[in-house]
Amino acid sequence: MQSSEAIHPERLGSYDQQSAGYWLEQMISTHQEKHTLCVSFQHDIQVKVRHLTESIVRLTVQAGSDTDSVPSPGITPLAAQPFTIEENQSSVVSRFGELAVTISNGSPASLSISDSQGISRLRVDSIRFFADGSSQLRLASEAEADYFGLGEKTGWLSKQGSKTVMWNSDVYAPHNLETEALYVSIPYLLKLDAKGATGFLLDAPAKSEWNLQKSHQEITITLDTGAVDFYVILGQDAKQVTERYTELSGRMPLPPAWSLGYHQSRYSYMSQQEVEQLAEEFRSREIPCDAIHLDIHYMRGYRVFTFDANRFPNPKKMVGNLLEQGFHIVPIVDPGVKRDVEYTVYQEGVSGNYFCRRLEGELYFGEVWPGISAFPDFTSSATRSWWGEKHKFYTQLGIQGIWNDMNEPAVFNESKTMELDVMHQAEGRPQPHRALHNLYGLQMSRATYEGLREQLQGERPFVLTRSGYIGVQRYAAVWTGDNRSFWEHMEMAVPMLLNMGLSGIPFAGVDVGGFAYDTQPELLARWTQLGAFLPFFRNHSAIDAIRQEPWRFGEEIEAVCRAAIARRYRLIPYLYSVFAEAARKGWPVVRPIFMEAPGDSTARTVADEFFVGRHLLAAPVLRPQQRKRMVYFPEGEWVDVESGLTYSGAQYHIVDAPLSHMPLFARAGAPIAETDVYSHLQFEHQDVLRIVFYGHPVGETAETLDLYEDDGHSFAYEQKNAYNLVRIQSKRRGNEWIVTLDLVHEGYSTPYTYRELRFTGAAKCWQIDTDYRQDGDDIIVQLPVDQTSRLILRPM
Ligand code: GLC
Repeated sequence: MQSSEAIHPERLGSYDQQSAGYWLEQMISTHQEKHTLCVSFQHDIQVKVRHLTESIVRLTVQAGSDTDSVPSPGITPLAAQPFTIEENQSSVVSRFGELAVTISNGSPASLSISDSQGISRLRVDSIRFFADGSSQLRLASEAEADYFGLGEKTGWLSKQGSKTVMWNSDVYAPHNLETEALYVSIPYLLKLDAKGATGFLLDAPAKSEWNLQKSHQEITITLDTGAVDFYVILGQDAKQVTERYTELSGRMPLPPAWSLGYHQSRYSYMSQQEVEQLAEEFRSREIPCDAIHLDIHYMRGYRVFTFDANRFPNPKKMVGNLLEQGFHIVPIVDPGVKRDVEYTVYQEGVSGNYFCRRLEGELYFGEVWPGISAFPDFTSSATRSWWGEKHKFYTQLGIQGIWNDMNEPAVFNESKTMELDVMHQAEGRPQPHRALHNLYGLQMSRATYEGLREQLQGERPFVLTRSGYIGVQRYAAVWTGDNRSFWEHMEMAVPMLLNMGLSGIPFAGVDVGGFAYDTQPELLARWTQLGAFLPFFRNHSAIDAIRQEPWRFGEEIEAVCRAAIARRYRLIPYLYSVFAEAARKGWPVVRPIFMEAPGDSTARTVADEFFVGRHLLAAPVLRPQQRKRMVYFPEGEWVDVESGLTYSGAQYHIVDAPLSHMPLFARAGAPIAETDVYSHLQFEHQDVLRIVFYGHPVGETAETLDLYEDDGHSFAYEQKNAYNLVRIQSKRRGNEWIVTLDLVHEGYSTPYTYRELRFTGAAKCWQIDTDYRQDGDDIIVQLPVDQTSRLILRPM
């Protein structure tokens, strides 16, 4: 319980601290250094402007420092471009492409970023530096603007009115609206207003506090330490800005297909026998499953890179047998290395100088699961190589996936993390933990990914991480840590994951069923239905919580869970194509409704539904005993994929939501790719590819699916262009409904020879100009895979 001491005036910042400090004010001079505009201000403050693309600019503002702020490893560096410059008494304007930066002189000076029409999209009204090394930015805001992003945060979809802290934190206490910091920090805001979409990215691996609560007129961002180093990204809408933002923060490489399947986890499956029985149970109950996670008890006394020989007598045999049955084993690997002079990983870490140390030289130790432990300094490439190399221990057993946890880093002490004066080597630019805290998880997952990639001989690694920073998607999928088996936590997962997607992290998920607390039968059923449409799909529960595998609550719930998981497996060709789009363009896998309906102001308010790709709209049931729910449909027509009922858009409808399945709608007449359900995902064995058109397109619309196909496990798609891209378009022109399949790229030989097109319910009202077969009211057409096709349907 907190007492009034929590609001002691000294905790809120003293009057002196609030009033002291230097403003960015009184411009002194400007000059250009290559493609950098440098502007000097009073108090020895320098502003540097670098135009990186026609719509992305980087600004750094530093006080009293000769060294240029360097982008953190979260950023994919882009070279600065030449720009034009206009100067007069009161301002300097630099311009390149569609973006201009205006630095206006004054007390304080302001920085405004405007678009090609000269409309200001974002304005920094003031920047102030305090004597203790902290600084504060004030961004101007307008009442009609709305904000999204901010990475992994509790609360609603819109971040207007929120207050948050970027400081990666291990939070076991129930996540709620007051939880300001969680495990992942992405200091990024997406602003939407009538002028378009604008991204604001602050590259701050140290702590920052974001206040969107005090007023609708301004946003204040307080940085604990370091340079003010930020990017502004302009675009027309959320999709375009996200695409541009991920040029900067990087994109997810295509994960192995198996990682898109269902994962089963538990803290912990305690023995080899238990794991083998679990796998058997999935197969005998015919519930698809691709991965089983091993939590900390597989290790010998929680020592990473070991197996406990009593509990897991033959891990190689276990991993091999399970792989044959289509299960991947994903062991947990935490950063803490037990202080044990007889443990080789500890010995190597000390002798190789891979662990974090104090400035004076002694090792830093903190307590985690194994007891007193040392922590690898992942900011150093030598440490990352060593750590990556250590994963041979797993890859030699046939393991291809690793789960990184506790990498905020979490430490069992009062501050919950490493002490702030512990040093990081950071490639020859040593800095204290205080300055680099938020990078620890990113750099650990990077070490893991790079090590696995090297060892897996062309197979794609899978890495799951709890902690991360800008760009974490380049190395790992993210799960949102220790939630609870509460309906409210399931509900909160939706906006949290949508904002993570907008923040560049497309492959993310939550513990399905809830981690801590005892889940309930209906909650597990509904959560599994929702999880089946989230990018990362894993059921995980805590050591003291009731078991929550899909069959734990009797036949009815088991059948609901089986059907939900099978539904995902049926839609894998569609989902995989959406993943491929995320890898190519950075668009999220799950998207807020407004992302596919940019002009629709109601869509911006919808936080309990989402799009999977562009054509599937998921409306999860988030309340107990609810058998109907309200759904907002954006413009167009929408077909319930179970019942075939059609709903017209730009309005709300009340739809049926029986326990048996989650309401799921397809955009009428849009192509959805499906397959038969197998026990696990292996594309080389997939012998059916179905393109289903639910209902028919209305109005003069044209909707496209870029069907992406490859082997699902190697890098041949990248190295040998061994992939197919089939552009399937469905459009309405007058009375005609025209469907075309264009082979945009052919490089992968599919295991099937025909693609089956299924037009649901079409036999009742459409005739088609080609050979077809009828299945009930559905029209079915088979097309050879190597053939570009054009089909025309006409009303009967
Ligand atoms: C942390 C993780 C959780 C895991 C547990 C034991 O709480 O968030 O997923 O099961 O540690 O390793």
